[in-house]
Amino acid sequence: MDIKYKEYPFIVCLLTFIVIAVSSPAMEKKEQKSIVMSGIRPTGILHLGNYFGALKSYLRMQEEYECYFMIADLHSLTTHPDTKELRNNVLHVMSEYLACGLDPDKVALYCQSYVHETTELYTYLNTLAYKGELEKTTTFKEKARRQPDNMNAALLTYPVLMAADILLHRALYVPVGKDQEQHLEMARNFANRFNHRYENVFPEPLAFNFGEALVKVPSLDGTGKMSKSENQSATLYLSDDDDQIRKKIMKAKTDEGPKTPNAPMPDYIENIFQLMKLSGTEEVYEKYSADYNSCIIRYGDMKKQLANDMIAFIKPIREKAIAIRNNETYLKEVLENGAEKARKSADITMKLVREAVGTKYF
Ligand code: TRP
Repeated sequence: MDIKYKEYPFIVCLLTFIVIAVSSPAMEKKEQKSIVMSGIRPTGILHLGNYFGALKSYLRMQEEYECYFMIADLHSLTTHPDTKELRNNVLHVMSEYLACGLDPDKVALYCQSYVHETTELYTYLNTLAYKGELEKTTTFKEKARRQPDNMNAALLTYPVLMAADILLHRALYVPVGKDQEQHLEMARNFANRFNHRYENVFPEPLAFNFGEALVKVPSLDGTGKMSKSENQSATLYLSDDDDQIRKKIMKAKTDEGPKTPNAPMPDYIENIFQLMKLSGTEEVYEKYSADYNSCIIRYGDMKKQLANDMIAFIKPIREKAIAIRNNETYLKEVLENGAEKARKSADITMKLVREAVGTKYF
């Protein structure tokens, strides 16, 4: 090629322009963000464990990914057939999600039963799930023990419905706790079976967290984690009032304190420190650690401090959630807009599914 010297400036300009265009934020935006999907059953009120174990990382994810966060009301029917409290529970969880900072403009925040494509995909996936593997699922065996009088078929196919939730958006990342990992593995199996039997439609969904974000929040009585429905007096709920928070914390188990410097901590003391780390400042935490290590710690003072820090943390969330819960016009709008966003993504997937399976006849 014969390039004249006087054409150089033009070529340099053109190359510079291309480099800038390709690396500009406007171009980056077009890049497809990875899809994140998760759900929560509306069968209890949110507690500190839900906040630090899940919600806090959702807040980060909503800035970086295309997120679908769903309230699994259909799942709750498998264990809670009485629906008297259902509406209130769904709106309550939704209000708390919003109060914690989930932004319906950034994520699709929706209710499972509003997105009918979910149950359509559930039907297709049911043909790929084996009775034997469903019966072997840990959560199924547990529920069979707990509710022998209500062994409904949807209990057996619970993991299939969950797989439908995830695959509906062809999600890549699913932030879930340990107790849901088996379900997620089953979702991967169903996705692979579908891809093999028909066409490649689904990516394999993976468990996801930000590493350090997967925090276990211990209960206040030194036994296990905070829980939605068990040992309520040892669990701090996002809806607890100041008095309840203080009372629960002051009742937490302690002892006379360490007798030797730098002694190992018993579980129940470690738990109090862990809660302090989550809610208080670094200085406060360091001060009490130092007091512990030099055997001058006063647990009464420590718990008072922890109670104050917890109240300062929970109160604004609680008040915001109450205000949102009282604004049903707003909640209705959030639910409808969320469902619309979810349906848009579901619609694309279901077209691919029907075509792959062969139920699109014309
Ligand atoms: N099974 C989950 C639980 O009990 C809730 C859930 C339903 C879910 N659908 C989901 C979680 C999809 C992650 C992805 O907590």
